[in-house]
Amino acid sequence: MLVSQRRVEAETWTHVALVRDAAGELALYLDGELDATASLGDVPTHAGLDVGRTNPPAGCAARLAEVRVWRTARSAAEIGASFRTRVTSDRRPADLVLLLPGDDVELSGAARVEGALDAPPVLTDAERAAEEALFARYRELAARAGDATRGREVFRATCAACHKVGGEGGAIGPVLDGVGAKGREGLLRAILTPSAGVESGYRTLVVRTTGGELLDGFLAAEDDEAIVLRRKDREDLRLPRAEIASARFDRLSLMPAGQLEALADADAVDLLSFLQSLR
Ligand code: HEC
Repeated sequence: MLVSQRRVEAETWTHVALVRDAAGELALYLDGELDATASLGDVPTHAGLDVGRTNPPAGCAARLAEVRVWRTARSAAEIGASFRTRVTSDRRPADLVLLLPGDDVELSGAARVEGALDAPPVLTDAERAAEEALFARYRELAARAGDATRGREVFRATCAACHKVGGEGGAIGPVLDGVGAKGREGLLRAILTPSAGVESGYRTLVVRTTGGELLDGFLAAEDDEAIVLRRKDREDLRLPRAEIASARFDRLSLMPAGQLEALADADAVDLLSFLQSLR
Protein backbone atom coordinates (compact mmCIF):
# COMPACT_ATOMS: atom_id res chain seq x y z
CA MET A 1 0.00 0.00 0.00
CA LEU A 2 1.18 3.52 -0.74
CA VAL A 3 -0.19 6.54 1.18
CA SER A 4 1.03 10.09 0.61
CA GLN A 5 3.11 11.75 3.34
CA ARG A 6 1.81 15.20 2.62
CA ARG A 7 -1.84 16.05 3.11
CA VAL A 8 -3.69 17.03 -0.02
CA GLU A 9 -5.68 20.14 0.87
CA ALA A 10 -9.34 20.49 0.02
CA GLU A 11 -10.25 22.90 -2.79
CA THR A 12 -6.64 23.16 -3.92
CA TRP A 13 -5.36 22.10 -7.32
CA THR A 14 -2.83 19.33 -6.77
CA HIS A 15 -0.94 17.30 -9.36
CA VAL A 16 -0.69 13.62 -8.43
CA ALA A 17 1.52 11.19 -10.39
CA LEU A 18 1.85 7.50 -9.61
CA VAL A 19 4.65 5.59 -11.34
CA ARG A 20 5.13 1.85 -11.44
CA ASP A 21 8.32 0.64 -13.08
CA ALA A 22 9.16 -2.73 -14.61
CA ALA A 23 10.53 -4.03 -11.30
CA GLY A 24 7.28 -3.26 -9.44
CA GLU A 25 8.61 -0.18 -7.61
CA LEU A 26 5.92 2.44 -6.94
CA ALA A 27 6.59 6.15 -6.58
CA LEU A 28 4.04 8.84 -5.74
CA TYR A 29 4.67 12.46 -6.73
CA LEU A 30 2.68 15.46 -5.51
CA ASP A 31 3.05 18.66 -7.52
CA GLY A 32 6.10 17.20 -9.26
CA GLU A 33 7.94 16.24 -6.07
CA LEU A 34 8.57 12.72 -4.83
CA ASP A 35 6.33 12.11 -1.82
CA ALA A 36 6.39 8.36 -1.06
CA THR A 37 7.59 5.04 -2.45
CA ALA A 38 6.68 1.37 -2.02
CA SER A 39 7.54 -1.95 -3.56
CA LEU A 40 4.90 -4.23 -5.03
CA GLY A 41 7.10 -7.30 -4.88
CA ASP A 42 5.55 -8.81 -7.97
CA VAL A 43 4.47 -7.04 -11.13
CA PRO A 44 0.73 -7.32 -11.76
CA THR A 45 -0.67 -6.30 -15.12
CA HIS A 46 -3.30 -3.90 -13.69
CA ALA A 47 -5.97 -5.06 -16.10
CA GLY A 48 -9.19 -3.11 -15.51
CA LEU A 49 -7.39 -0.42 -13.49
CA ASP A 50 -9.75 1.82 -11.49
CA VAL A 51 -9.02 5.50 -10.97
CA GLY A 52 -10.90 7.15 -8.11
CA ARG A 53 -12.37 3.97 -6.60
CA THR A 54 -12.51 3.90 -2.81
CA ASN A 55 -13.23 1.27 -0.22
CA PRO A 56 -15.84 1.62 1.28
CA PRO A 57 -17.23 2.41 -2.15
CA ALA A 58 -18.39 6.01 -1.56
CA GLY A 59 -16.11 7.10 -4.42
CA CYS A 60 -13.22 9.52 -4.40
CA ALA A 61 -14.18 12.93 -2.95
CA ALA A 62 -11.63 14.69 -5.15
CA ARG A 63 -12.48 16.29 -8.47
CA LEU A 64 -10.18 15.05 -11.22
CA ALA A 65 -9.62 17.80 -13.76
CA GLU A 66 -7.46 15.69 -16.06
CA VAL A 67 -6.32 12.08 -16.26
CA ARG A 68 -3.24 10.91 -18.19
CA VAL A 69 -2.12 7.29 -18.40
CA TRP A 70 1.35 6.54 -19.83
CA ARG A 71 2.75 3.21 -20.95
CA THR A 72 6.27 4.09 -19.75
CA ALA A 73 7.59 4.68 -16.22
CA ARG A 74 8.20 8.43 -16.28
CA SER A 75 11.25 9.86 -14.52
CA ALA A 76 11.20 12.51 -11.79
CA ALA A 77 12.58 15.01 -14.32
CA GLU A 78 9.86 14.20 -16.87
CA ILE A 79 7.08 14.49 -14.29
CA GLY A 80 8.46 17.75 -12.95
CA ALA A 81 8.89 19.20 -16.42
CA SER A 82 5.59 18.20 -17.95
CA PHE A 83 2.88 18.70 -15.40
CA ARG A 84 2.34 22.33 -16.21
CA THR A 85 2.24 21.79 -19.93
CA ARG A 86 -0.78 20.97 -21.99
CA VAL A 87 -1.02 17.88 -24.15
CA THR A 88 -3.12 18.41 -27.26
CA SER A 89 -4.24 15.83 -29.78
CA ASP A 90 -2.00 17.27 -32.51
CA ARG A 91 1.17 16.74 -30.51
CA ARG A 92 0.42 13.86 -28.30
CA PRO A 93 3.40 11.79 -27.11
CA ALA A 94 3.25 8.21 -28.44
CA ASP A 95 3.47 6.67 -24.96
CA LEU A 96 0.43 8.56 -23.59
CA VAL A 97 -2.26 5.90 -23.81
CA LEU A 98 -5.18 7.69 -22.18
CA LEU A 99 -6.04 11.37 -21.93
CA LEU A 100 -9.19 12.75 -20.29
CA PRO A 101 -10.87 14.96 -21.23
CA GLY A 102 -10.28 14.12 -24.87
CA ASP A 103 -10.33 10.38 -25.41
CA ASP A 104 -13.60 8.68 -26.03
CA VAL A 105 -14.05 6.34 -23.07
CA GLU A 106 -17.01 5.58 -20.90
CA LEU A 107 -16.76 6.73 -17.28
CA SER A 108 -18.54 4.69 -14.63
CA GLY A 109 -21.23 5.80 -12.20
CA ALA A 110 -21.62 9.54 -11.74
CA ALA A 111 -18.03 10.25 -12.86
CA ARG A 112 -17.35 13.15 -15.23
CA VAL A 113 -14.33 15.25 -16.12
CA GLU A 114 -14.47 19.03 -15.68
CA GLY A 115 -11.91 21.83 -15.71
CA ALA A 116 -10.25 23.05 -12.51
CA LEU A 117 -10.71 26.68 -11.55
CA ASP A 118 -7.32 27.19 -10.01
CA ALA A 119 -4.98 25.10 -12.15
CA PRO A 120 -1.53 26.68 -12.40
CA PRO A 121 -0.73 28.57 -15.59
CA VAL A 122 0.31 26.38 -18.49
CA LEU A 123 3.74 27.19 -19.93
CA THR A 124 4.23 28.26 -23.52
CA ASP A 125 6.75 26.32 -25.64
CA ALA A 126 9.29 29.14 -25.26
CA GLU A 127 8.88 29.25 -21.48
CA ARG A 128 9.16 25.51 -21.29
CA ALA A 129 12.35 25.48 -23.37
CA ALA A 130 13.82 28.22 -21.15
CA GLU A 131 12.88 26.24 -18.04
CA GLU A 132 14.47 23.10 -19.41
CA ALA A 133 17.69 24.95 -20.22
CA LEU A 134 17.72 26.36 -16.68
CA PHE A 135 17.29 22.93 -15.16
CA ALA A 136 19.97 21.41 -17.38
CA ARG A 137 22.39 24.11 -16.24
CA TYR A 138 21.71 23.64 -12.51
CA ARG A 139 21.56 19.85 -12.73
CA GLU A 140 25.12 20.04 -13.99
CA LEU A 141 26.17 22.44 -11.19
CA ALA A 142 24.40 20.30 -8.55
CA ALA A 143 26.36 17.24 -9.70
CA ARG A 144 29.74 18.94 -9.11
CA ALA A 145 31.59 18.28 -5.87
CA GLY A 146 31.25 21.54 -3.95
CA ASP A 147 32.39 22.69 -0.53
CA ALA A 148 29.43 22.09 1.81
CA THR A 149 31.03 24.12 4.62
CA ARG A 150 31.25 27.17 2.35
CA GLY A 151 27.75 26.29 1.15
CA ARG A 152 26.46 26.70 4.69
CA GLU A 153 27.79 30.28 4.67
CA VAL A 154 26.01 30.96 1.37
CA PHE A 155 22.86 29.53 2.95
CA ARG A 156 23.22 31.80 6.00
CA ALA A 157 23.53 34.85 3.77
CA THR A 158 20.82 33.98 1.22
CA CYS A 159 18.27 31.62 2.69
CA ALA A 160 18.42 31.67 6.50
CA ALA A 161 16.20 34.76 6.76
CA CYS A 162 13.34 32.36 6.00
CA HIS A 163 14.58 28.82 6.67
CA LYS A 164 15.97 27.03 9.70
CA VAL A 165 18.75 24.44 9.50
CA GLY A 166 20.01 22.95 12.76
CA GLY A 167 17.70 25.20 14.77
CA GLU A 168 19.14 28.39 13.28
CA GLY A 169 17.28 30.74 10.92
CA GLY A 170 13.88 32.26 10.21
CA ALA A 171 10.39 30.74 10.37
CA ILE A 172 8.82 31.91 7.09
CA GLY A 173 9.55 28.74 5.15
CA PRO A 174 9.78 25.07 6.12
CA VAL A 175 12.66 23.79 8.27
CA LEU A 176 15.22 22.37 5.84
CA ASP A 177 16.91 19.74 8.05
CA GLY A 178 16.78 16.57 5.98
CA VAL A 179 15.87 18.40 2.76
CA GLY A 180 18.61 16.47 0.90
CA ALA A 181 16.20 13.53 0.91
CA LYS A 182 14.19 15.35 -1.76
CA GLY A 183 16.92 14.34 -4.18
CA ARG A 184 18.68 16.59 -6.67
CA GLU A 185 15.65 16.97 -8.92
CA GLY A 186 13.24 17.77 -6.07
CA LEU A 187 15.63 20.35 -4.62
CA LEU A 188 16.11 22.07 -7.95
CA ARG A 189 12.38 22.15 -8.55
CA ALA A 190 11.72 23.70 -5.10
CA ILE A 191 14.37 26.37 -5.65
CA LEU A 192 14.13 27.14 -9.38
CA THR A 193 10.34 27.03 -9.84
CA PRO A 194 8.93 27.57 -6.32
CA SER A 195 5.50 28.67 -7.45
CA ALA A 196 4.85 25.53 -9.51
CA GLY A 197 3.98 23.46 -6.48
CA VAL A 198 3.31 25.71 -3.55
CA GLU A 199 2.22 23.82 -0.49
CA SER A 200 -1.14 25.22 0.35
CA GLY A 201 -0.06 26.22 3.86
CA TYR A 202 2.55 28.49 2.30
CA ARG A 203 0.46 30.37 -0.20
CA THR A 204 0.71 34.07 0.09
CA LEU A 205 -2.36 35.69 1.62
CA VAL A 206 -3.04 39.16 0.27
CA VAL A 207 -5.16 41.32 2.56
CA ARG A 208 -6.72 44.69 1.90
CA THR A 209 -7.52 46.52 5.11
CA THR A 210 -10.50 48.79 5.69
CA GLY A 211 -7.91 51.60 5.80
CA GLY A 212 -6.97 50.75 2.19
CA GLU A 213 -3.57 49.23 3.02
CA LEU A 214 -2.41 46.16 1.07
CA LEU A 215 -0.55 43.57 3.18
CA ASP A 216 0.79 40.14 2.35
CA GLY A 217 2.36 37.26 4.19
CA PHE A 218 1.34 33.79 5.08
CA LEU A 219 -1.48 32.90 7.36
CA ALA A 220 0.29 31.79 10.54
CA ALA A 221 -2.84 31.55 12.72
CA GLU A 222 -6.44 32.65 12.86
CA ASP A 223 -9.31 32.72 15.30
CA ASP A 224 -12.76 34.28 15.45
CA GLU A 225 -11.42 37.75 16.14
CA ALA A 226 -8.26 38.05 14.10
CA ILE A 227 -5.76 36.57 11.68
CA VAL A 228 -1.98 36.47 12.11
CA LEU A 229 0.18 37.30 9.10
CA ARG A 230 3.80 36.12 9.10
CA ARG A 231 6.27 38.17 7.08
CA LYS A 232 9.98 38.03 6.38
CA ASP A 233 12.25 39.91 8.80
CA ARG A 234 9.29 41.36 10.67
CA GLU A 235 7.17 40.67 13.71
CA ASP A 236 4.01 38.63 13.17
CA LEU A 237 1.10 40.94 12.54
CA ARG A 238 -2.19 40.32 14.31
CA LEU A 239 -4.95 41.84 12.23
CA PRO A 240 -8.46 42.12 13.70
CA ARG A 241 -11.05 40.68 11.30
CA ALA A 242 -13.02 43.93 11.59
CA GLU A 243 -10.12 45.70 9.84
CA ILE A 244 -10.05 43.32 6.87
CA ALA A 245 -11.91 44.56 3.81
CA SER A 246 -10.95 41.57 1.63
CA ALA A 247 -8.44 38.74 1.53
CA ARG A 248 -7.40 36.21 -1.09
CA PHE A 249 -4.71 33.58 -1.49
CA ASP A 250 -2.20 34.16 -4.24
CA ARG A 251 -0.80 31.27 -6.24
CA LEU A 252 2.68 32.67 -5.86
CA SER A 253 4.97 31.09 -3.33
CA LEU A 254 6.57 33.26 -0.66
CA MET A 255 9.75 31.48 -1.69
CA PRO A 256 11.35 33.93 -4.14
CA ALA A 257 12.26 32.64 -7.62
CA GLY A 258 15.60 33.55 -9.20
CA GLN A 259 17.73 33.16 -6.06
CA LEU A 260 20.07 30.51 -7.44
CA GLU A 261 20.45 32.39 -10.70
CA ALA A 262 21.55 35.46 -8.73
CA LEU A 263 24.51 33.58 -7.21
CA ALA A 264 27.94 33.14 -8.79
CA ASP A 265 28.32 29.57 -10.11
CA ALA A 266 30.89 28.68 -7.42
CA ASP A 267 28.48 29.80 -4.68
CA ALA A 268 25.59 27.89 -6.27
CA VAL A 269 27.74 24.71 -6.44
CA ASP A 270 28.65 25.01 -2.75
CA LEU A 271 25.09 25.82 -1.68
CA LEU A 272 23.71 22.84 -3.61
CA SER A 273 26.37 20.57 -2.05
CA PHE A 274 25.36 21.79 1.40
CA LEU A 275 21.64 21.23 0.75
CA GLN A 276 22.26 17.75 -0.67
CA SER A 277 24.28 16.91 2.45
CA LEU A 278 21.28 17.63 4.73
CA ARG A 279 19.89 14.14 5.29
C1 HEC B 1 11.45 35.13 1.61
C2 HEC B 1 11.54 33.88 2.27
C3 HEC B 1 12.38 32.78 1.66
C4 HEC B 1 13.71 32.83 1.26
C5 HEC B 1 14.67 34.01 1.30
C6 HEC B 1 14.04 31.48 0.84
N1 HEC B 1 12.94 30.67 0.95
FE1 HEC B 1 12.84 28.70 0.48
N2 HEC B 1 10.88 28.65 0.92
C7 HEC B 1 10.16 29.70 1.44
C8 HEC B 1 8.78 29.28 1.63
C9 HEC B 1 7.65 30.14 2.18
C10 HEC B 1 8.71 27.94 1.21
C11 HEC B 1 7.49 27.03 1.21
C12 HEC B 1 6.58 27.38 0.10
C13 HEC B 1 6.64 26.50 -1.05
O1 HEC B 1 6.56 25.28 -0.89
O2 HEC B 1 6.74 27.06 -2.15
C14 HEC B 1 10.05 27.57 0.77
C15 HEC B 1 10.38 26.32 0.30
C16 HEC B 1 11.68 25.91 0.06
C17 HEC B 1 12.08 24.55 -0.26
C18 HEC B 1 11.14 23.36 -0.31
C19 HEC B 1 11.08 22.81 1.07
C20 HEC B 1 10.14 21.65 1.23
O3 HEC B 1 10.21 21.04 2.32
O4 HEC B 1 9.37 21.36 0.32
C21 HEC B 1 13.43 24.54 -0.43
C22 HEC B 1 14.32 23.34 -0.77
C23 HEC B 1 13.87 25.89 -0.24
N3 HEC B 1 12.79 26.70 0.05
C24 HEC B 1 15.19 26.29 -0.33
C25 HEC B 1 15.62 27.61 -0.23
C26 HEC B 1 16.98 28.03 -0.48
C27 HEC B 1 18.12 27.11 -0.88
C28 HEC B 1 17.01 29.39 -0.30
C29 HEC B 1 18.18 30.31 -0.50
C30 HEC B 1 18.77 30.31 -1.82
C31 HEC B 1 15.66 29.81 0.08
N4 HEC B 1 14.85 28.70 0.11
C32 HEC B 1 15.29 31.11 0.38
C33 HEC B 1 10.63 30.96 1.73
C34 HEC B 1 11.92 31.42 1.46
